[in-house]
Amino acid sequence: MASSRIGLTLLRSRVMDADAAAAMIAPGSTVGMSGFTGAGYPKAVPIALARRIERAHEAGEPFSIKVWTGASTGPELDGALAKAKGIEFRLPYNSDPIARDMINRGEMNYFDMHLSQVAPMAWQGFLGPLDTALIEVTAILPDGSLVPSSSVGNNKTWLDRADKVILEVNRWQNPALEGMHDIYYGTALPPDRVPIPLVRPNDRIGQASFRCDPEKIVAIVETESPDRNLPFKPADDTALRIAGYLLEFFGHEVSRARLPAHLLPLQSGVGNIANAVLSGLLDSPFDQLDAYTEVLQDGMLDLLKAGKLRMASATAFSLSPEAALELNADMQRYRERIILRPQEISNHPELIRRLGCLAMNGMIEADIYGAVNSTHVMGSRIQNGIGGSGDFARNAYISVFMAPSTAKGGSISTIVPQVSHVDHINQDVQVIVTEQGLADLRGLSPKQRARLVIDNCAHPDYRPMLADYFERAQRGSYGQHAPSLLAEALSWHQRFIDTGTMRQA
Ligand code: COA
Repeated sequence: MASSRIGLTLLRSRVMDADAAAAMIAPGSTVGMSGFTGAGYPKAVPIALARRIERAHEAGEPFSIKVWTGASTGPELDGALAKAKGIEFRLPYNSDPIARDMINRGEMNYFDMHLSQVAPMAWQGFLGPLDTALIEVTAILPDGSLVPSSSVGNNKTWLDRADKVILEVNRWQNPALEGMHDIYYGTALPPDRVPIPLVRPNDRIGQASFRCDPEKIVAIVETESPDRNLPFKPADDTALRIAGYLLEFFGHEVSRARLPAHLLPLQSGVGNIANAVLSGLLDSPFDQLDAYTEVLQDGMLDLLKAGKLRMASATAFSLSPEAALELNADMQRYRERIILRPQEISNHPELIRRLGCLAMNGMIEADIYGAVNSTHVMGSRIQNGIGGSGDFARNAYISVFMAPSTAKGGSISTIVPQVSHVDHINQDVQVIVTEQGLADLRGLSPKQRARLVIDNCAHPDYRPMLADYFERAQRGSYGQHAPSLLAEALSWHQRFIDTGTMRQA
């Protein structure tokens, strides 16, 4: 019998099991799924679809689909479909290890894109039609509108744009989520685009639920499954030192009256280091903070709990299993202080620039001139994707990138002569922090930047090698604005590929 979470009576006859719903997805079709960093993704139909795909493959029939989401999802979606070799094309972000390996083996096409641009680009039409929207919701209200789940992502766009809609109504999601979301329906493509009327992080500019034409809903599957995120690595000494340098820098900026006492809206990226910085804020003198960010991690929740953070605006929760359970059990308490929005709004360049966000994102590597690679290990192997880092870095009040100064047990320097792939040009990178120190690159020429990055951020094992490179580049370079030895600039990466370390023999 259909649960009370399906308020619109006429839809109750469309409740079915996951296999029957998965049977409605045709080979080769494009499916827009909910999900953003392990929150709010469909958990039953993708698994049933993966089983169907495996059966088709066993029978010698080709079967794969194109998958669009908000960002990364959970093992029941990306993991299951990738394992079944069922994804031929994926956008806009992935962190699933099975899918990552397939992408890096060249077996899956992946369009890694700015997360704010997914919805407008879907409307522009060059990505092709969207056949099905497969969306997890908390409930269907009596008027047919849909209470979003623990992420919003691109769901509004998928529901509007898809020919047909399959819903998963997840009873695990706390009904108190109703009222937390702010779904803005005022976006349009140029020339009809108008300013977005949000001037403070806590402004509500939309409605609490998604509109959806009930005629388009072809299947409803009821589930009771938790969101599954990976736990964060505990903040180690390296992460705490990075946090310490960054908070000292913010304090310095406040003392110079270049930042207000309660800072500006915080944006904190995905990953362990970004989460550790938030933990550092817990013990800092800063209070009455606001967050205008993409994901709400454990560190943000701790800041909310401690009263340090007044409110947080994001598009999704990105919580460890323990924190997700804790929040879910206590949703009522947080509802007034958390706003979940479509990612088109949480990551909107216009709003990030207007609010003056302090952007804090992780990186794979930075070069001595301040360009940052967030995505490609050794220039060619994708780790996750650019996510929202570009949306925030280009438009932030201050844009910070941080990482430990070495990776893989010290065999890789994360400060290199030249990045092996560019996600963020040096103009978009204002501060670089490692556990060695912080380089404030604002207002500096390339040569001034190089000296600071080498002296403050590089690991002592690699600092002399970088200083030597920079010194020789100033003698042997074609030009002297940003001295470079072209034949040598990427040799550190090649040495790692050839010998397993960037260190010189
Ligand atoms: N070379 C090779 N591998 C590297 C590396 C480098 N220079 N730097 C990091 N890595 C590896 C780490 O060894 C680790 O690998 P493991 O999982 O096998 O242990 C992995 O990348 C993650 O690194 P970690 O140090 O744990 O940092 P993190 O969890 O903070 O993640 C990024 C760092 C860059 C991968 C992550 O921030 C990211 O994906 N960023 C892009 C998207 C983004 O910024 N989104 C936020 C927008 S709001």
